[in-house]
This record gives sequence, C-alpha cells and structure tokens, in this order.
Amino acid sequence: MEGMDEDEPPGRTPFFRAKNLERALRLKNLFIKFEGAGITGTQKDRISKLHVLRAKEMGYDTISLATCGNYGASISHFANIYGLKSVVAVPEYYAGERNEEIRANGSQILEVSAKYEDLVEYMRDRSNDENWYDSSPGSKNSQIDLEGYENIAYEIVSQLGRAPSFVSVPLGNGTTLAGIYSGFDKMYSRGTIRKIPRFIGSSTPNGNPIVASWRKRRKTVMELDPSTIRETKASEPLVSYRSYDGQKALNAIYRSNGFATYVTDEEMYRYSTLIEHFEMLSVLPASASSLAAVDKVINRKSDSRDIVVVLTGRSRMWTTQ
Ligand SMILES: Cc1ncc(COP(=O)(O)O)c(C=O)c1O
Repeated sequence: MEGMDEDEPPGRTPFFRAKNLERALRLKNLFIKFEGAGITGTQKDRISKLHVLRAKEMGYDTISLATCGNYGASISHFANIYGLKSVVAVPEYYAGERNEEIRANGSQILEVSAKYEDLVEYMRDRSNDENWYDSSPGSKNSQIDLEGYENIAYEIVSQLGRAPSFVSVPLGNGTTLAGIYSGFDKMYSRGTIRKIPRFIGSSTPNGNPIVASWRKRRKTVMELDPSTIRETKASEPLVSYRSYDGQKALNAIYRSNGFATYVTDEEMYRYSTLIEHFEMLSVLPASASSLAAVDKVINRKSDSRDIVVVLTGRSRMWTTQ
C-alpha cells in the first residue's frame, strides 16, 4: 500500500528549512517536520498501523479507541486496509469533522455524551468486556505509541544531520512529545548524538495539565477540574483535564531544560495562516501552536541554532471514498 511494506512503520515525513518564515519571524535556522504528510494527515499514522498490526498478531478481530477525531480517522484507515473491524468513540459535542471519513472506512462510530477522558475510561472497560483491542492513550497496549513517535526523532537527526537545539511539539496527552524525547534520549545514550534538544510543548489555555503543571513548576503532573476545561474547534485535539502521558512529557520538558506554553485559539489560527502564506502548507490550527510557541519562547539573541517545529496535522485533507 502506497509504497509501504507491511513491516515498515509509516513516516518518512518531509523535513525542510522554512526560510520564508525565518525572515517573517526573525528566526534563524528554522526547520519544519511536517507530520501532516501522513496518509490520514496527522502524526497518529505513526502509531495506528503499529496498533492494527499488533491487534491482528494477537488474534483480535476488532480494534477500539476514544478519540477527538484525528486518531480515529487514522485507526479506521489502517483497520480497513488490514481487515480489522473498528469501533471509534467520539464525544458527541465535538465538531465531528472526521466522522464521515471514519464511517466511510467501515468503522462503527459511538457518539457519546461524555468528556474525552471519560470516554477513554468507558472504552477501556467496554474493550475488556467485548474482547476488543484497546488502542486508546494510556491503555495496556500504549507502549507502542512511544516507539512509533521515537521514529520522528530518528528521522529529524537523519534529515538534519545532527541533533537540533530545540524541538517544538503540540501537547494533548503528551504522547507525541514524550515519544520524540525518548527517541533523542536513546540516540544520546548510544552516542549517536552529542546533545538532547530542549523541548518546547505548546497547548491550549482552555485546559491542559502538562502546561498547567509546568507553569506552577510542579514535578508531578496534576489533573485539572473537568468543569473548568472548554473545547473549541481549534483546540479540541489539545484540550484535556487528564493527559495520559502527561508525566512523561513533563519529565521530558524538565530534563531537556525546555519550556511549556499556552497558545490561544486566535494565535493558533494566526500562525496556521502564516504557515499557509509563507510556506504554502495548510495545517490544523492546533498543530500550528508549535510555531506560535517558538515565537514566544525563543530568545533571538542567544537561541539561534536549529529550531525544529513539528507540525502535527494538515487541514482540508480528506475526501471520502
Ligand atoms: C493534530 C494533533 N496534534 C497534536 C495532538 C496532541 O498529541 P498528543 O496527544 O500525543 O500530545 C493531537 C492529538 O489528538 C492531534 O490530533
């Protein structure tokens, strides 16, 4: 399928120097790692294929998850390709922009009146009861997620030829950032690279435990009060009151001497427009938060070398089959 063989994880996404954005934002050596180039348009493809193949290997006939939409679209795509049934639970009040595509892949959609995290817990129990393979964040199968995202780090080093000084990543559950950090950490331990980049995590002030914890200089990631969080179309992929890999992501940010910062919806839209204008890429507003964060935290005088912005998703991506 699309030139990928069964054993190969999806990936090998484009990496390029964003010279126009460098000029516009007065940054030096700014690089984009474009995860939106994946087959279903987000970094989730990195882990979905691994989960689907693992589920098949373990003898399951159904894979399930709770999702804001992007991960569901990705799991349903690979489940369809590899002949597995899929059950995708989405909070009913979410924008549901990918539901049509998920249905077109033959998945069953459960639209449930519950917050995302409550749906993750519900699907955990339901998967146990129904003997489905649970691919939700934080599940017993989720170790695969870090392995999938480690490949982003390996690709960056091979595409850049060295470890960058900064890597900026949007934060929801923190899985993507934690996985990329783990990849750099492994390369550092093996002596393949001489430094681990400083990690910048970006998320929404509408609710994210990792940024909230970092801002309070807490070492243990906290949960937020569910009644205080607020999803919007732009921030849905990042909003959470519980981040399932939040502790790993928070540790990565501290260990790399990095930063975590909030990016408002308005800023997400503004930076996605800038990316479209200067680099001709249409990206999801939430994924543009990584560039907004760089613009906020980078010190132009001292932090001038090799900044990598991970853009996690493209927009206007799908036509249904
Ligand atoms: C496009 C996009 N970017 C970023 C994230 C956040 O990733 P993580 O939950 O691994 O922190 C998500 C999560 O759904 C996403 O869909």
